[in-house]
Amino acid sequence: MDVHAAIGSLALGLAGVLGACTQSPPEPSALASTTPAQVGALLFSDPSLSEPVGQACADCHDPRVAFRDPEADHSTSMGVVAGRFGSRNSQSAMYAALVPTLHYDPEAAQTVGGLFWDGRADSLEDQANGPLMNPLEMANPSTQVVVDKLRLGPNAAAFRAAFGDDALDEVDGAYAHMTAALAAYERTPTFAPFSSKYDHYLAGTAALNASEKRGLAIFEDPARGNCASCHPNRPSAAGAPPMFTTYAYANLGIPTYANNLFYEQPQALNPDGAAYLDRGLGRTLDDVREDGEFRTPTLRNIGRTAPYGHNGYFASLAYFLDFLNTRDTGSTEVGTCSRAKAEVRCAWPAPEVAATLDHHVGDLKLSESDIDDLVAFLETLDDVE
Ligand code: HEC
Ligand code: HEC
Repeated sequence: MDVHAAIGSLALGLAGVLGACTQSPPEPSALASTTPAQVGALLFSDPSLSEPVGQACADCHDPRVAFRDPEADHSTSMGVVAGRFGSRNSQSAMYAALVPTLHYDPEAAQTVGGLFWDGRADSLEDQANGPLMNPLEMANPSTQVVVDKLRLGPNAAAFRAAFGDDALDEVDGAYAHMTAALAAYERTPTFAPFSSKYDHYLAGTAALNASEKRGLAIFEDPARGNCASCHPNRPSAAGAPPMFTTYAYANLGIPTYANNLFYEQPQALNPDGAAYLDRGLGRTLDDVREDGEFRTPTLRNIGRTAPYGHNGYFASLAYFLDFLNTRDTGSTEVGTCSRAKAEVRCAWPAPEVAATLDHHVGDLKLSESDIDDLVAFLETLDDVE
Protein backbone atom coordinates (compact mmCIF):
# COMPACT_ATOMS: atom_id res chain seq x y z
CA MET A 1 0.00 0.00 0.00
CA ASP A 2 1.15 3.54 -0.67
CA VAL A 3 1.27 4.88 2.89
CA HIS A 4 2.12 8.38 1.83
CA ALA A 5 -0.98 8.61 -0.35
CA ALA A 6 -3.05 7.20 2.50
CA ILE A 7 -1.73 9.88 4.84
CA GLY A 8 -2.42 12.56 2.29
CA SER A 9 -6.03 11.50 1.76
CA LEU A 10 -6.70 11.41 5.50
CA ALA A 11 -5.66 14.99 5.84
CA LEU A 12 -7.62 16.69 3.09
CA GLY A 13 -9.04 19.92 4.30
CA LEU A 14 -7.40 19.83 7.70
CA ALA A 15 -5.06 22.76 7.18
CA GLY A 16 -7.66 25.46 7.80
CA VAL A 17 -8.73 24.00 11.11
CA LEU A 18 -5.18 23.43 12.29
CA GLY A 19 -4.65 27.17 12.18
CA ALA A 20 -7.40 27.43 14.78
CA CYS A 21 -5.91 24.74 17.03
CA THR A 22 -6.37 26.49 20.37
CA GLN A 23 -8.25 25.68 23.54
CA SER A 24 -11.27 27.81 22.67
CA PRO A 25 -14.14 25.62 21.47
CA PRO A 26 -14.77 25.81 17.71
CA GLU A 27 -17.70 27.88 16.42
CA PRO A 28 -20.87 25.74 16.15
CA SER A 29 -21.03 26.40 12.41
CA ALA A 30 -17.57 24.88 12.01
CA LEU A 31 -18.63 21.70 13.80
CA ALA A 32 -20.96 20.32 11.15
CA SER A 33 -18.14 18.69 9.20
CA THR A 34 -15.67 18.01 12.01
CA THR A 35 -13.37 15.07 11.23
CA PRO A 36 -11.65 12.74 13.70
CA ALA A 37 -8.27 14.29 12.73
CA GLN A 38 -9.57 17.75 13.58
CA VAL A 39 -10.76 16.57 16.99
CA GLY A 40 -7.39 14.84 17.41
CA ALA A 41 -5.61 18.15 16.82
CA LEU A 42 -7.66 19.76 19.57
CA LEU A 43 -7.14 16.90 22.02
CA PHE A 44 -3.41 16.74 21.29
CA SER A 45 -2.96 20.16 22.89
CA ASP A 46 -5.70 19.83 25.53
CA PRO A 47 -4.09 20.08 29.01
CA SER A 48 -7.35 19.09 30.73
CA LEU A 49 -6.72 15.42 29.85
CA SER A 50 -4.05 14.85 32.51
CA GLU A 51 -4.51 14.23 36.25
CA PRO A 52 -4.21 16.80 37.72
CA VAL A 53 -4.96 18.98 34.70
CA GLY A 54 -2.00 20.78 33.14
CA GLN A 55 -0.22 18.45 30.71
CA ALA A 56 -1.11 17.84 27.07
CA CYS A 57 0.56 15.55 24.54
CA ALA A 58 1.92 18.74 22.97
CA ASP A 59 3.89 19.58 26.13
CA CYS A 60 6.22 16.67 25.36
CA HIS A 61 5.61 16.76 21.60
CA ASP A 62 5.77 20.45 20.70
CA PRO A 63 4.99 21.26 17.04
CA ARG A 64 7.68 23.98 17.17
CA VAL A 65 10.42 21.41 17.81
CA ALA A 66 9.46 18.57 15.50
CA PHE A 67 6.79 17.30 17.93
CA ARG A 68 9.18 16.40 20.69
CA ASP A 69 9.95 17.71 24.18
CA PRO A 70 11.17 21.33 24.11
CA GLU A 71 12.37 21.04 27.74
CA ALA A 72 16.14 20.93 27.22
CA ASP A 73 17.17 20.92 30.91
CA HIS A 74 16.40 17.26 31.44
CA SER A 75 17.35 14.20 29.45
CA THR A 76 13.87 12.76 29.99
CA SER A 77 10.48 14.47 30.24
CA MET A 78 8.81 15.58 33.44
CA GLY A 79 5.28 14.27 33.98
CA VAL A 80 2.26 16.31 35.06
CA VAL A 81 3.16 15.57 38.69
CA ALA A 82 6.21 17.74 39.43
CA GLY A 83 9.39 15.76 39.99
CA ARG A 84 8.19 12.62 38.18
CA PHE A 85 10.41 11.62 35.28
CA GLY A 86 10.21 8.66 32.90
CA SER A 87 13.25 6.58 32.05
CA ARG A 88 13.41 7.51 28.36
CA ASN A 89 14.10 10.40 26.04
CA SER A 90 10.91 11.69 24.37
CA GLN A 91 10.59 10.60 20.75
CA SER A 92 9.39 12.88 17.99
CA ALA A 93 5.82 12.05 16.99
CA MET A 94 6.74 13.01 13.42
CA TYR A 95 6.77 10.17 10.88
CA ALA A 96 5.56 7.80 13.64
CA ALA A 97 2.52 6.97 11.47
CA LEU A 98 4.91 5.27 9.04
CA VAL A 99 6.41 2.88 11.61
CA PRO A 100 5.23 -0.65 10.71
CA THR A 101 3.65 -2.94 13.29
CA LEU A 102 6.14 -4.99 15.30
CA HIS A 103 6.92 -8.16 13.36
CA TYR A 104 9.68 -10.60 12.55
CA ASP A 105 11.11 -10.17 9.05
CA PRO A 106 12.36 -13.62 7.99
CA GLU A 107 14.31 -12.25 5.03
CA ALA A 108 16.35 -9.85 7.16
CA ALA A 109 16.20 -12.32 10.10
CA GLN A 110 15.33 -9.35 12.31
CA THR A 111 12.53 -7.94 14.41
CA VAL A 112 11.27 -4.68 12.94
CA GLY A 113 8.71 -1.99 13.77
CA GLY A 114 6.48 -1.26 16.73
CA LEU A 115 5.96 2.12 18.42
CA PHE A 116 8.00 3.46 21.35
CA TRP A 117 11.76 2.90 21.65
CA ASP A 118 11.06 -0.75 22.47
CA GLY A 119 8.26 -1.45 19.97
CA ARG A 120 5.69 -2.29 22.63
CA ALA A 121 2.73 -0.48 20.99
CA ASP A 122 1.18 -1.84 17.80
CA SER A 123 -0.67 1.23 16.55
CA LEU A 124 -0.96 4.94 17.21
CA GLU A 125 -4.35 4.22 18.79
CA ASP A 126 -2.72 1.75 21.17
CA GLN A 127 0.24 4.10 21.76
CA ALA A 128 -1.90 7.07 22.88
CA ASN A 129 -3.22 5.04 25.80
CA GLY A 130 0.34 4.82 27.20
CA PRO A 131 1.04 8.46 28.21
CA LEU A 132 -2.56 9.04 29.36
CA MET A 133 -2.31 6.22 31.91
CA ASN A 134 1.41 6.45 32.75
CA PRO A 135 1.85 7.72 36.35
CA LEU A 136 5.12 9.34 35.20
CA GLU A 137 3.35 11.22 32.39
CA MET A 138 -0.34 12.27 32.27
CA ALA A 139 -1.10 10.07 35.30
CA ASN A 140 -4.80 9.27 34.88
CA PRO A 141 -6.01 6.53 37.25
CA SER A 142 -8.63 5.09 34.83
CA THR A 143 -10.25 5.44 31.43
CA GLN A 144 -13.41 6.59 33.25
CA VAL A 145 -11.53 9.63 34.60
CA VAL A 146 -10.31 10.54 31.11
CA VAL A 147 -13.79 10.23 29.59
CA ASP A 148 -15.24 12.40 32.39
CA LYS A 149 -12.66 15.03 31.43
CA LEU A 150 -13.69 14.76 27.78
CA ARG A 151 -17.36 15.27 28.71
CA LEU A 152 -16.62 18.40 30.73
CA GLY A 153 -13.70 19.64 28.62
CA PRO A 154 -13.51 22.36 25.98
CA ASN A 155 -13.73 19.93 23.05
CA ALA A 156 -16.86 17.95 23.95
CA ALA A 157 -18.95 19.60 21.22
CA ALA A 158 -16.33 18.94 18.52
CA PHE A 159 -16.01 15.35 19.77
CA ARG A 160 -19.77 14.75 19.43
CA ALA A 161 -19.82 16.47 16.04
CA ALA A 162 -17.17 14.06 14.75
CA PHE A 163 -18.32 10.83 16.38
CA GLY A 164 -22.06 11.28 17.02
CA ASP A 165 -24.27 12.77 19.72
CA ASP A 166 -23.92 9.69 21.93
CA ALA A 167 -20.13 9.46 21.45
CA LEU A 168 -19.34 10.36 25.07
CA ASP A 169 -22.10 8.35 26.71
CA GLU A 170 -20.26 5.11 27.28
CA VAL A 171 -16.69 4.92 28.63
CA ASP A 172 -15.06 2.27 26.42
CA GLY A 173 -16.58 3.61 23.20
CA ALA A 174 -15.66 7.21 24.03
CA TYR A 175 -12.10 6.25 24.96
CA ALA A 176 -11.70 4.37 21.66
CA HIS A 177 -12.96 7.40 19.71
CA MET A 178 -10.42 9.57 21.55
CA THR A 179 -7.41 7.38 20.70
CA ALA A 180 -8.72 7.11 17.11
CA ALA A 181 -8.90 10.92 16.90
CA LEU A 182 -5.34 11.38 18.22
CA ALA A 183 -4.07 8.75 15.78
CA ALA A 184 -5.94 10.33 12.85
CA TYR A 185 -4.30 13.66 13.64
CA GLU A 186 -0.86 12.01 13.83
CA ARG A 187 -1.48 10.54 10.36
CA THR A 188 -1.92 13.98 8.73
CA PRO A 189 0.84 15.55 6.60
CA THR A 190 1.60 17.97 9.46
CA PHE A 191 3.52 15.03 10.94
CA ALA A 192 5.13 13.96 7.66
CA PRO A 193 5.86 17.00 5.49
CA PHE A 194 8.98 15.60 3.74
CA SER A 195 10.15 19.21 3.39
CA SER A 196 13.83 19.01 4.41
CA LYS A 197 16.70 20.47 2.42
CA TYR A 198 17.70 16.89 1.64
CA ASP A 199 14.21 16.16 0.19
CA HIS A 200 14.65 19.24 -1.99
CA TYR A 201 18.11 18.03 -2.95
CA LEU A 202 16.65 14.66 -4.02
CA ALA A 203 13.99 16.49 -6.03
CA GLY A 204 16.66 18.60 -7.71
CA THR A 205 15.39 21.85 -6.20
CA ALA A 206 18.22 22.48 -3.71
CA ALA A 207 21.98 21.95 -3.67
CA LEU A 208 24.09 20.64 -0.80
CA ASN A 209 27.18 22.66 0.14
CA ALA A 210 30.66 21.09 0.14
CA SER A 211 30.60 20.05 3.80
CA GLU A 212 27.09 18.54 3.53
CA LYS A 213 28.16 16.60 0.43
CA ARG A 214 31.22 15.19 2.19
CA GLY A 215 28.96 14.27 5.12
CA LEU A 216 26.55 12.48 2.78
CA ALA A 217 29.43 10.51 1.25
CA ILE A 218 30.66 9.39 4.69
CA PHE A 219 27.09 8.53 5.70
CA GLU A 220 26.67 6.21 2.71
CA ASP A 221 30.14 4.68 2.48
CA PRO A 222 30.16 1.14 3.98
CA ALA A 223 33.88 1.53 4.70
CA ARG A 224 33.48 4.82 6.57
CA GLY A 225 30.30 5.87 8.45
CA ASN A 226 28.20 2.97 7.17
CA CYS A 227 25.22 4.85 8.60
CA ALA A 228 22.96 4.13 5.62
CA SER A 229 23.02 0.38 6.37
CA CYS A 230 20.67 1.11 9.30
CA HIS A 231 19.46 4.61 8.34
CA PRO A 232 18.78 4.24 4.54
CA ASN A 233 18.90 7.61 2.75
CA ARG A 234 17.87 6.81 -0.83
CA PRO A 235 14.30 6.76 -2.20
CA SER A 236 12.80 3.28 -2.66
CA ALA A 237 12.63 1.67 -6.10
CA ALA A 238 8.97 2.75 -6.21
CA GLY A 239 9.99 6.35 -5.45
CA ALA A 240 8.91 6.54 -1.79
CA PRO A 241 11.04 9.07 0.11
CA PRO A 242 13.78 7.63 2.35
CA MET A 243 12.83 7.19 6.00
CA PHE A 244 16.38 7.01 7.39
CA THR A 245 15.54 3.87 9.31
CA THR A 246 15.09 0.17 8.61
CA TYR A 247 12.87 0.09 11.75
CA ALA A 248 15.11 -2.77 12.97
CA TYR A 249 16.67 -2.98 16.43
CA ALA A 250 20.24 -2.71 17.67
CA ASN A 251 22.18 -2.24 20.90
CA LEU A 252 24.66 0.58 20.25
CA GLY A 253 26.03 0.25 23.79
CA ILE A 254 24.75 3.54 25.16
CA PRO A 255 25.93 3.79 28.78
CA THR A 256 23.65 3.95 31.79
CA TYR A 257 22.79 7.60 32.33
CA ALA A 258 23.19 8.04 36.06
CA ASN A 259 21.86 11.64 36.02
CA ASN A 260 18.54 10.36 34.70
CA LEU A 261 16.00 11.52 37.29
CA PHE A 262 14.06 8.27 36.86
CA TYR A 263 16.55 6.62 39.23
CA GLU A 264 15.34 8.92 42.00
CA GLN A 265 11.68 7.97 41.66
CA PRO A 266 10.00 6.35 44.67
CA GLN A 267 9.95 2.57 44.81
CA ALA A 268 6.34 2.35 43.67
CA LEU A 269 7.33 3.96 40.37
CA ASN A 270 10.81 2.46 39.97
CA PRO A 271 10.95 -0.81 41.94
CA ASP A 272 14.56 -1.48 40.87
CA GLY A 273 15.93 1.86 42.09
CA ALA A 274 19.55 2.47 41.12
CA ALA A 275 19.74 -1.06 39.69
CA TYR A 276 17.12 -0.26 37.01
CA LEU A 277 18.20 -1.59 33.63
CA ASP A 278 16.37 -0.74 30.41
CA ARG A 279 16.03 -4.03 28.54
CA GLY A 280 14.37 -2.41 25.50
CA LEU A 281 13.17 -4.95 22.94
CA GLY A 282 14.22 -7.78 25.28
CA ARG A 283 11.40 -6.85 27.63
CA THR A 284 8.85 -6.43 24.83
CA LEU A 285 9.65 -9.89 23.43
CA ASP A 286 10.48 -11.42 26.83
CA ASP A 287 13.76 -12.64 25.35
CA VAL A 288 17.15 -11.83 26.90
CA ARG A 289 18.81 -12.23 23.48
CA GLU A 290 17.27 -8.86 22.54
CA ASP A 291 18.16 -7.04 25.78
CA GLY A 292 19.55 -3.53 25.30
CA GLU A 293 18.20 -3.25 21.75
CA PHE A 294 16.16 -0.22 20.69
CA ARG A 295 14.34 0.64 17.47
CA THR A 296 16.51 2.47 14.94
CA PRO A 297 15.03 5.98 14.89
CA THR A 298 14.41 8.03 11.79
CA LEU A 299 17.03 10.77 11.44
CA ARG A 300 14.51 13.21 9.98
CA ASN A 301 14.53 16.40 12.12
CA ILE A 302 17.53 15.09 14.05
CA GLY A 303 19.06 18.59 14.23
CA ARG A 304 16.08 19.73 16.33
CA THR A 305 15.65 16.77 18.67
CA ALA A 306 18.50 16.85 21.20
CA PRO A 307 19.31 15.08 23.46
CA TYR A 308 20.11 11.80 21.70
CA GLY A 309 19.81 8.10 22.43
CA HIS A 310 16.93 6.29 24.13
CA ASN A 311 17.95 7.61 27.55
CA GLY A 312 19.06 11.07 26.39
CA TYR A 313 22.68 10.42 27.38
CA PHE A 314 24.11 12.63 24.61
CA ALA A 315 23.41 16.36 24.74
CA SER A 316 24.64 17.12 21.20
CA LEU A 317 24.87 15.44 17.81
CA ALA A 318 28.66 15.85 17.71
CA TYR A 319 28.97 14.12 21.10
CA PHE A 320 26.79 11.20 19.98
CA LEU A 321 28.74 10.82 16.72
CA ASP A 322 32.02 10.90 18.65
CA PHE A 323 30.61 7.97 20.65
CA LEU A 324 29.73 5.97 17.51
CA ASN A 325 33.21 6.76 16.18
CA THR A 326 35.28 5.93 19.28
CA ARG A 327 33.16 3.74 21.57
CA ASP A 328 35.71 0.92 21.39
CA THR A 329 38.91 3.01 21.33
CA GLY A 330 38.17 5.86 23.76
CA SER A 331 37.97 9.59 23.20
CA THR A 332 39.19 12.89 24.57
CA GLU A 333 35.54 13.98 24.68
CA VAL A 334 34.42 11.49 27.32
CA GLY A 335 32.80 13.39 30.19
CA THR A 336 35.11 11.92 32.81
CA CYS A 337 38.27 12.46 30.72
CA SER A 338 40.93 14.73 32.20
CA ARG A 339 40.58 18.11 30.53
CA ALA A 340 44.19 18.92 31.38
CA LYS A 341 45.49 16.26 29.01
CA ALA A 342 43.60 16.88 25.80
CA GLU A 343 45.62 14.25 23.95
CA VAL A 344 44.67 11.42 26.31
CA ARG A 345 41.93 9.08 25.09
CA CYS A 346 39.65 7.92 27.87
CA ALA A 347 37.44 4.85 27.81
CA TRP A 348 33.70 5.44 27.43
CA PRO A 349 31.60 4.14 30.32
CA ALA A 350 30.55 0.50 29.87
CA PRO A 351 27.44 -0.23 27.80
CA GLU A 352 24.31 -0.71 29.90
CA VAL A 353 23.92 -4.16 28.31
CA ALA A 354 27.18 -5.70 27.06
CA ALA A 355 26.04 -9.12 25.81
CA THR A 356 24.19 -7.94 22.68
CA LEU A 357 26.53 -5.08 21.66
CA ASP A 358 26.47 -4.13 17.95
CA HIS A 359 29.86 -3.91 16.24
CA HIS A 360 28.93 -2.06 13.04
CA VAL A 361 29.80 1.08 14.98
CA GLY A 362 32.34 1.77 17.72
CA ASP A 363 35.61 2.20 15.81
CA LEU A 364 34.88 4.14 12.62
CA LYS A 365 38.24 5.97 12.36
CA LEU A 366 36.57 9.23 11.34
CA SER A 367 38.47 12.50 11.81
CA GLU A 368 37.12 15.55 13.62
CA SER A 369 36.36 17.24 10.31
CA ASP A 370 34.55 14.08 9.13
CA ILE A 371 32.30 14.40 12.20
CA ASP A 372 31.70 18.09 11.42
CA ASP A 373 30.70 17.11 7.87
CA LEU A 374 28.37 14.36 9.14
CA VAL A 375 26.68 16.86 11.47
CA ALA A 376 26.31 19.31 8.57
CA PHE A 377 24.69 16.59 6.46
CA LEU A 378 22.38 15.44 9.28
CA GLU A 379 21.18 19.02 9.72
CA THR A 380 19.87 18.96 6.12
CA LEU A 381 17.28 16.40 7.33
CA ASP A 382 15.33 18.98 9.35
CA ASP A 383 11.94 19.81 7.85
CA VAL A 384 11.58 23.46 6.92
CA GLU A 385 8.34 25.44 6.84
C1 HEC B 1 5.59 13.50 29.87
C2 HEC B 1 5.95 13.56 28.46
C3 HEC B 1 5.04 12.92 27.45
C4 HEC B 1 3.69 13.12 27.25
C5 HEC B 1 2.73 13.97 28.07
C6 HEC B 1 3.34 12.37 26.07
N1 HEC B 1 4.45 11.74 25.56
FE1 HEC B 1 4.54 10.70 23.82
N2 HEC B 1 6.41 10.06 24.31
C7 HEC B 1 7.12 10.47 25.41
C8 HEC B 1 8.27 9.61 25.61
C9 HEC B 1 9.31 9.71 26.73
C10 HEC B 1 8.23 8.64 24.57
C11 HEC B 1 9.15 7.41 24.42
C12 HEC B 1 8.67 6.43 25.50
C13 HEC B 1 9.18 5.01 25.41
O1 HEC B 1 9.85 4.61 24.46
O2 HEC B 1 8.86 4.25 26.34
C14 HEC B 1 7.04 8.98 23.76
C15 HEC B 1 6.66 8.30 22.60
C16 HEC B 1 5.58 8.69 21.81
C17 HEC B 1 5.29 8.14 20.49
C18 HEC B 1 6.06 7.04 19.78
C19 HEC B 1 6.89 7.52 18.63
C20 HEC B 1 7.66 6.38 17.97
O3 HEC B 1 8.44 6.66 17.06
O4 HEC B 1 7.50 5.21 18.34
C21 HEC B 1 4.15 8.77 20.04
C22 HEC B 1 3.43 8.55 18.72
C23 HEC B 1 3.70 9.65 21.10
N3 HEC B 1 4.61 9.60 22.14
C24 HEC B 1 2.50 10.37 21.10
C25 HEC B 1 1.94 10.94 22.26
C26 HEC B 1 0.54 11.31 22.42
C27 HEC B 1 -0.55 11.15 21.37
C28 HEC B 1 0.42 11.83 23.68
C29 HEC B 1 -0.84 12.34 24.38
C30 HEC B 1 -1.92 11.37 24.54
C31 HEC B 1 1.75 11.79 24.28
N4 HEC B 1 2.62 11.21 23.40
C32 HEC B 1 2.04 12.29 25.55
C33 HEC B 1 6.80 11.54 26.23
C34 HEC B 1 5.50 12.02 26.38
C1 HEC C 1 23.60 -1.19 13.36
C2 HEC C 1 22.69 -0.18 12.93
C3 HEC C 1 23.13 1.28 13.05
C4 HEC C 1 24.20 1.90 12.44
C5 HEC C 1 25.27 1.27 11.57
C6 HEC C 1 24.09 3.30 12.79
N1 HEC C 1 22.99 3.51 13.58
FE1 HEC C 1 22.33 5.31 14.27
N2 HEC C 1 21.06 4.33 15.52
C7 HEC C 1 20.78 2.98 15.49
C8 HEC C 1 19.96 2.64 16.63
C9 HEC C 1 19.43 1.27 16.99
C10 HEC C 1 19.77 3.85 17.38
C11 HEC C 1 19.04 4.00 18.73
C12 HEC C 1 20.00 3.55 19.81
C13 HEC C 1 19.56 3.82 21.24
O1 HEC C 1 19.07 4.92 21.51
O2 HEC C 1 19.78 2.94 22.07
C14 HEC C 1 20.48 4.89 16.62
C15 HEC C 1 20.49 6.23 17.00
C16 HEC C 1 21.06 7.23 16.24
C17 HEC C 1 20.95 8.64 16.53
C18 HEC C 1 20.20 9.26 17.70
C19 HEC C 1 18.75 9.38 17.35
C20 HEC C 1 17.85 9.92 18.43
O3 HEC C 1 16.72 10.30 18.08
O4 HEC C 1 18.23 9.97 19.60
C21 HEC C 1 21.68 9.31 15.56
C22 HEC C 1 21.88 10.81 15.43
C23 HEC C 1 22.25 8.30 14.70
N3 HEC C 1 21.84 7.05 15.12
C24 HEC C 1 23.06 8.57 13.60
C25 HEC C 1 23.87 7.60 13.01
C26 HEC C 1 25.01 7.89 12.15
C27 HEC C 1 25.42 9.28 11.71
C28 HEC C 1 25.58 6.69 11.82
C29 HEC C 1 26.84 6.44 11.04
C30 HEC C 1 28.05 6.99 11.62
C31 HEC C 1 24.76 5.65 12.48
N4 HEC C 1 23.76 6.25 13.19
C32 HEC C 1 24.99 4.27 12.34
C33 HEC C 1 21.24 2.09 14.55
C34 HEC C 1 22.39 2.30 13.77
